[in-house]
Amino acid sequence: MSASYFITGANGQLGKALTKKYPEATVLGRDSFDITDPASYESIDWSKYDTLINAAAMTNVDGAESPEGERLARQVNADAVQLMADTANKHDLTLVHISSDYVFDGSQEFHTEDEVFTPLSNYGKSKANGDTAAATAPKHYILRTSWVIGDGKNFISIMKSLADQNIKPSVVNDQIGRLTFVPTLVDAIDHLLNARATFGTYNCTNSGESVSWAEIAKLIFQKSGKNPDDVTPVTTEEYYAGKEGIAPRPLQSTLVLDKIIATGFEPTDWRSELDVYWKHMEEQS
Ligand SMILES: NC(=O)c1ccc[n+]([C@@H]2O[C@H](COP(=O)([O-])OP(=O)(O)OC[C@H]3O[C@@H](n4cnc5c(N)ncnc54)[C@H](OP(=O)(O)O)[C@@H]3O)[C@@H](O)[C@H]2O)c1
Repeated sequence: MSASYFITGANGQLGKALTKKYPEATVLGRDSFDITDPASYESIDWSKYDTLINAAAMTNVDGAESPEGERLARQVNADAVQLMADTANKHDLTLVHISSDYVFDGSQEFHTEDEVFTPLSNYGKSKANGDTAAATAPKHYILRTSWVIGDGKNFISIMKSLADQNIKPSVVNDQIGRLTFVPTLVDAIDHLLNARATFGTYNCTNSGESVSWAEIAKLIFQKSGKNPDDVTPVTTEEYYAGKEGIAPRPLQSTLVLDKIIATGFEPTDWRSELDVYWKHMEEQS
């Protein structure tokens, strides 16, 4: 029997890519499957599925710093994940869940899967609690990722738009990490499921050199035919000076990829994925 997937968060960056990858799957957005509502889970005949992939999340990092945002982040990123883990447990499903580099404070230069959680922000706390919840499902894959770029508004599309408008932005030069293009994340999910890798947590980003957001912004300006010097590198402290409601962010986000590589998955370099993504953006514009 072929695998049967139920996927949440249809309209997000990852959800859209999973919809394309698995045309046979049931993929539902918030309007038809609110992951925080216990009634959602009761409305599904889970005997039809063997895998539950959670692509839904509250991803507004700064928004989660308000009391209302903190509540929402907890409900969506942690409490709902416990509902999923309980559902997976009850119906013998494999649960696939996505974690974040923001579960760490960034004091370590490189992060392995077993580093103790030290979140700085409410978003990071909610994601850390979500990981703990997901891990209560006996059959789970938690893919910990960072700096996700897919179909939607993201750092690259924003920088391209600024370059096109001749706006000269200040961009932080002390947050260091690697981009994760959504197709790589989707391939990694597919690989872990098909390879029947040992259940657990796996770091997943593109490979290659770790860089700052400012370096990536300069690359985007160059690709847009603009002067990379139009981007002014600033520290995180300088960037957020005088701004209210900003979540603290880890300065070091590089995730060690050895564990997923040992399963036979080879993440591509982020620069080559950027070239593919860029070509795709140009074709669409
Ligand atoms: N983006 C990053 O840089 C980044 C970095 C590290 C980890 N991650 C993790 O990667 C995963 C995928 O992120 P992404 O970039 O694809 O996120 P995204 O584009 O923000 O998509 C999240 C989706 O979740 C949906 N959602 C929110 N609350 C929901 C609810 N109660 N019920 C059902 N759906 C709900 C949203 O629906 P609406 O469209 O209705 O709002 C949205 O479509 C998340 O777990 C995220 O935490 C992301």
